[in-house]
Amino acid sequence: MGASHMDRMSSTSSDCRMWVDDPAGFSTGKVGRLHHDYHRHPLFQLPELEALAKELSPLKQCRFVRPGITQSSAFAHDSVPPDGRSIEDVFRRIEEPGSWIALYDVEVIPRYKELLDHILGNVRDVIEREQGEMFQVTGFIFISAPPSVTPFHIDRENNFWLMLHGRKVLNVWDHTDRTVVPIDAVEDFIVAHSLRRVRLKDEYRARSHEFDVRAGDGVYFPSTSPHMTRSDPEWAAAGDRVAISIGVNFYTPVTRRAAQIHQINRLLRKCGLSPAGPGESAAVDAVKAPIGKLTGIARSSLARVLRPILHKGMGRYKAPPGSF
Ligand SMILES: [Fe+2]
Repeated sequence: MGASHMDRMSSTSSDCRMWVDDPAGFSTGKVGRLHHDYHRHPLFQLPELEALAKELSPLKQCRFVRPGITQSSAFAHDSVPPDGRSIEDVFRRIEEPGSWIALYDVEVIPRYKELLDHILGNVRDVIEREQGEMFQVTGFIFISAPPSVTPFHIDRENNFWLMLHGRKVLNVWDHTDRTVVPIDAVEDFIVAHSLRRVRLKDEYRARSHEFDVRAGDGVYFPSTSPHMTRSDPEWAAAGDRVAISIGVNFYTPVTRRAAQIHQINRLLRKCGLSPAGPGESAAVDAVKAPIGKLTGIARSSLARVLRPILHKGMGRYKAPPGSF
């Protein structure tokens, strides 16, 4: 894994750090390149990740995609492998072309929560200076063997995305690029969890920031920045075919406020209006945010009341985390 076995095992969190390439030019509002040495950390080596997967599997936090997906596919995943194999088997055969497992919300395991907090500790000052206190820190680890992809999608959180092993190409688009994802499609995702209208078209590729990343490389991107990955079999050497990355995600008062504005904008749009998106007007945002907060609370309360009555549709509605 790049470092020798002894190097790896002697590394602890206090030996590792993450830093942005351009501290003077870094902003939480735009895509930025970074570096780190967390790929040497014992908790990010395959045997430890297998142990983690065994702890997460009963919680349905191991996720699997169906074979043959492309970057244009819907980002659908399931909590059981498509062929029903055990976690042990998944890891025993992880080097087989097309293997893919994601470990979701690793922060539920205390030793990983501590590690995520350590990673963000490197940048806490710069983040909090611009966006206020970080909260709801989550970690998503993707382990795969080429050829593999993570389909085009957006997330609610800000993301420090770190490459831990192998090689991938990560494409990220500006979160403000309305050609790639229209503002009402962002609203659908934030308010109703739908990625139905977040879809890759070939002509979008040229508009992306493309990062060819290896262990020790990383990228920061803000909430709702479209992104996707791919890995190619030609990059893998025999006996070292696995690609591992982690997204360290978090909310801030800025992401929460944007979600509140999406809540109210969705209602306005249903009334035939074309409201300004979050960040376009500070004065308008200041009026909308408190109303959006109440809208989010009302939606969540309604869902709680209806859930026992309705087992489908709105009965399953869950308010987006961090939206109010
Ligand atoms: Fe993502």
